[in-house]
Amino acid sequence: MPDVLPPPEEKARTVRQMFDRIAPGYDRVNRVMTGRRDQAWRRELVRRLRVSDADRVLDLACGTGDFAEIAREFTPHVVGLDFARVMLQGARRRKIEGVEWVQADALRLPLRDGSMTVAVSGFALRNFTSIPAVLAELARVIRPGGRIGLLEVDRPRNPIFRAGHTVYFNRVVPLIGGALSSERQAYRYLPASAAYMPAEAELLGMIREAGFERVRKQSHMLGAAQAITAVRA
Ligand SMILES: C[S@@+](CC[C@H](N)C(=O)[O-])C[C@H]1O[C@@H](n2cnc3c(N)ncnc32)[C@H](O)[C@@H]1O
Repeated sequence: MPDVLPPPEEKARTVRQMFDRIAPGYDRVNRVMTGRRDQAWRRELVRRLRVSDADRVLDLACGTGDFAEIAREFTPHVVGLDFARVMLQGARRRKIEGVEWVQADALRLPLRDGSMTVAVSGFALRNFTSIPAVLAELARVIRPGGRIGLLEVDRPRNPIFRAGHTVYFNRVVPLIGGALSSERQAYRYLPASAAYMPAEAELLGMIREAGFERVRKQSHMLGAAQAITAVRA
């Protein structure tokens, strides 16, 4: 594991403190790093999940609330949950009417069994200490027939795109993040944390194993990002 990654027992605390530090510039850095595509990917995923006003949507690890804000256009029932206090402050500052913001851990969701019909999560999987444990929590709170949508970084398969992506992600992203936020260490963590992502077959298998079916993956930006959807069995 690259040296910027914390030891397992310190991961949760390190991640929470890091996001609290970068929260003020978080949205701006995301938009610059992705050429504003991140918001288009979130919107497309919410559309793919066919969110309607009958849905109760959880934005898991919501950060500053990008997904929650988009979901709120389709339904009045949205919960945004994150364990980083300052990220949530950024979300609350948006004053999105009707969204319930909750500070809690994704590994122990303070939500009743089957109380949600949709969950979305953006760029959070690799930050969790255990992806299967979070998927188990999602399976518990999503009622049968409910949908999940997970957006994450990915690595292009095509060797040429992959080489270009490696340079951009490992060298350019820390520079952009460092320049815009003065938190260069945090933006070294971002590319390094891709090492936490399981390979495609393993990740899709974990989702099925947790109790979801119809697991589908779509790639964005030549494979630099992935959007996975699934249905609670
Ligand atoms: C890269 S940010 C993504 C924020 C937002 N979802 C987005 O799409 O921009 C990752 C978020 O995951 C949150 N997070 C990481 N582990 C968490 C956990 N165990 N419980 C709750 N939130 C967590 C962090 O606090 C951070 O806000």
